[in-house]
Amino acid sequence: MRLTRRVVSFFYNYLNQLTVIMEKTKKSGTVKFFNGKEIPLEMHKVRIVQSIKLVPIERRLEAIREAGFNTFLLGTKDIFLDMLTDSGTNAMSDEQLSKMFVADDAYAGSQSFVKFQKSVADVFGKNLILPVHQGRAAENIISQTFVRKGSVIPMNYHFTTTLAHIQLNGGTVVELYTPEAMVIKSTHPFKGNIDIARLEELIVKNGAENVPFIRMEASTNLIGGQPFSMENMKDVRKVADKYKIIIVLDASLIGENAYFIKQREAAYQDSSIGAILNEMCSLSDIVYFSGRKVSSSRGGAICTNSKDLFNKMKDLVPLYEGFLTYGGISIREIEAMTVGLYETLQEDVVGQSPSFIKYAVQELDKLGLPVIMPGGALGCHVEAQTFLPQIPQSEYPAGALVAAFYLISGVRGMERGTLSSIRDEQGNDIYAELELMRLAFPRRVFTLSQVEYLIDRLNWLYKNRDLVGGLKFVEEPPVLRFFTGRLDATSPWPEKLIAKFRADFGDSL
Ligand code: F0G
Repeated sequence: MRLTRRVVSFFYNYLNQLTVIMEKTKKSGTVKFFNGKEIPLEMHKVRIVQSIKLVPIERRLEAIREAGFNTFLLGTKDIFLDMLTDSGTNAMSDEQLSKMFVADDAYAGSQSFVKFQKSVADVFGKNLILPVHQGRAAENIISQTFVRKGSVIPMNYHFTTTLAHIQLNGGTVVELYTPEAMVIKSTHPFKGNIDIARLEELIVKNGAENVPFIRMEASTNLIGGQPFSMENMKDVRKVADKYKIIIVLDASLIGENAYFIKQREAAYQDSSIGAILNEMCSLSDIVYFSGRKVSSSRGGAICTNSKDLFNKMKDLVPLYEGFLTYGGISIREIEAMTVGLYETLQEDVVGQSPSFIKYAVQELDKLGLPVIMPGGALGCHVEAQTFLPQIPQSEYPAGALVAAFYLISGVRGMERGTLSSIRDEQGNDIYAELELMRLAFPRRVFTLSQVEYLIDRLNWLYKNRDLVGGLKFVEEPPVLRFFTGRLDATSPWPEKLIAKFRADFGDSL
């Protein structure tokens, strides 16, 4: 009996050690090519496909006019590569899809939710979970609960919906990024870090009682998907503890941030993604996320280990979202979210977009294009003021670049610059610090030849950049204007661009 136990325990330990060794040696993107090229290699195969079409450039001009030069208003029938966002557009795994068929549909007490709770506890180390229909719903609940008129909320950088919810509740956002964050071509590994000295100064100046929380955003979206380091997060924790302020972590892109910590922070190169995720969350009091991003599904959640914080937020869930065990999410999506969260533990999964982005960024850099470096999460970001120096910020250079790029390629990107910003009380545009065109790389969706097409067309546009002109608003909504606002070209530049395209490419699509 004792011998059997010994043998079992020996094999158990042996297997454990083997797993640790495999974890340590397994690094995505390390398959070397004989020809010396550095090419990201897909660790998945495509088994379900969707056809896409590239309509002729003349139709693309009609389409972008119909859309008021706003790529949010284009229909997918006119789009070749949809790089608007990775939100809700990441490819799902076969495991995720299969679990959707065993969903335990129930208004209250669904066992699918119990599985989801367990996945959040396993992956993020938080046991109390409030489901919400997507990330901004979490921001609504957190802001309504903690933000008051006069509140000041420091963060590494804002996200559009975060800012809107905090302002709606009377709060002010203060961004405390470090100077490297605004350097376009940099080698700094953690441009998403918060400036610790300025954080402490801000708290002292405003009084800790007016700072309801410090917000850290993983893979900081609007400055090019740039991560923060664990060291930085630990320093934030020290400040938070000193002044007794809670930390809210936006974990919508946490998998990629963990991947970058493993790749770029020496102390973590042998840690598993799971251990890094757990540590990042353990340094935060509240973690929230958009399931549309982190778990390649739909949905979202807020989680914490504090009963007190949980109770403060809890009652808003049935009011705005749905009952506490579904939160406005279809139960099928809760099943998909559960599997998707576990999949963020895999380096191949969370490293897929970053490795493709790195490839695109490096190739575009070789061609001399102004791209945000180092490559981050979410997408490849092209800096529009260097690309189109002839367009003043008042004529939205990033918006013009996005429209022009759609026109000449059928690729839909997103403006992340002054158009996505707001006006001040006098009605003047508040100019964005960075004017970016974001080309999102949803996980496992595009192939490398499609990325080559993107690089080729972007290079052509760069060579012909003098032909691109500005945009002006013709219809401007007061809130989140970039979603539904309509614009027009300030001159007939789109027609000139088409003429040059035809001269260079003949009858090519
Ligand atoms: N936080 C971050 C960092 C995000 O990137 C997003 C959404 C949200 C919160 C809001 O989540 O869309 O589920 O309500 N980002 C999308 C994007 C929209 O395209 O970058 P949501």
